[in-house]
Amino acid sequence: MTARPSLNPIDLILKKRDGGNLTRTEIAGFVDGVTSGDIPDYQAAAFLMASYLNGMNGEEMVGLTHCMLHSGSVLDLSDIPGRKVDKHSTGGVGDKMSIILAPIVASCGVPVPMISGRGLGHTGGTLDKLESIPGFSTQMSIASYRQQLAEIGVVMIGQTDDIAPADKKLYALRDVTATVEFIPFIAASILSKKLAEGIDALVLDVKFGSGAFMQSETQARKLAQTLTDLGEQFGKRTVALLTDMNQPLGFAIGNWPEIAESIDCLHGKGPEDVMEVTLALSAEMIVAGGKASSLEEGLRMAEASISSGRAWAKFEELVARQGGQLESIQDPAVRTKGQAMQDIHAQQSGTISHIDARIVGRAAVSLGAGRVKKEDVVDPRAGIILSVSAGSEVQVGDVIAQLVASTSDRFEQAASLLSTAFEIGSEREIGTSRIKDRYSDGKWLNP
Ligand code: URA
Repeated sequence: MTARPSLNPIDLILKKRDGGNLTRTEIAGFVDGVTSGDIPDYQAAAFLMASYLNGMNGEEMVGLTHCMLHSGSVLDLSDIPGRKVDKHSTGGVGDKMSIILAPIVASCGVPVPMISGRGLGHTGGTLDKLESIPGFSTQMSIASYRQQLAEIGVVMIGQTDDIAPADKKLYALRDVTATVEFIPFIAASILSKKLAEGIDALVLDVKFGSGAFMQSETQARKLAQTLTDLGEQFGKRTVALLTDMNQPLGFAIGNWPEIAESIDCLHGKGPEDVMEVTLALSAEMIVAGGKASSLEEGLRMAEASISSGRAWAKFEELVARQGGQLESIQDPAVRTKGQAMQDIHAQQSGTISHIDARIVGRAAVSLGAGRVKKEDVVDPRAGIILSVSAGSEVQVGDVIAQLVASTSDRFEQAASLLSTAFEIGSEREIGTSRIKDRYSDGKWLNP
């Protein structure tokens, strides 16, 4: 890294405080200073809040993304044949798509290098889910990451220290200074990590609704558009789907429960809503990877990879390669033996009109399936198995969900929270697609 002329952090804070716009050199000075530790947290925090309150223009956002991306290693996978494609989801409750689509897409000949995060708050994380497979390791050297991608076409790991280190520092500060929900910061944070992976194209699943990070559809649209346009500005083919996260996805919430449901999906027995979104995202990735010339063809290829068993075989290969015990995924019921369980019953008869995804996510966290603080340790087997979905008819006393965990210690609190997630009435809220829109090439499909 070449030495930059040193900038006084106070001047940068002043400029943002007074509504000014920073030059690329000034942004680079800020990012370098945060990464090296030369800018202390209190000044970085003041800068974040001033930017949050007074906004950042497009050029500043591109500059911030560029500097955060280059704060660490940027992988070059160009010696591995094929267009490398990843997917990023803004996170949800029961969102297990990465685990299902990575082997589907890889088995269709598109290399999938995936660097994922852990769950925080009411949403789960892909790393925690994968690590609930006994023995599965999400840590490896960059050399092994490249080798595995070249040899089997798919690799799923956690963020390493040298990928976008500026984001690690800034995200931790944003988290404690109420400056997370700001689109330029979110876009720079997500893309700096994804662009560092060495991908050629990115498919985004931007969620809205009670279980999503962005609850309002309008804000989620803005985020999808910003992320997609920004990805394209960095020369990567980027497409976004806007999906509904008001209700949990599928029936399983929690790490091992979601792996077990993903296994069903890979055997062609997955819940309709999970499969709808997974197959649509897979089709986008197959097209972006240049293996299909239309989304219809990509969809047929994704479906065929499941029905032929190729997606399952690729998943077994991935699990074995990363040290996971094959017996656990070949017979997932064995891993659930001996765990504590408690049924949740319907309080009245009627039709389930709504299941609030955020409450279900919080109940799963209270069981130990997620973290309240970064340092918390998750119980890999803890979670919730829903027996109903919106539109189901129930009689008072019917089982509508089951709590599962390694021990029953936390069942009381989780049960009282979970029972508030279900609305039972006479109205049905069913039959609508989870996929609300698609954004690519500067346009929405259904504006
Ligand atoms: N996810 C990220 O990686 N960064 C954000 O800022 C928000 C969500």
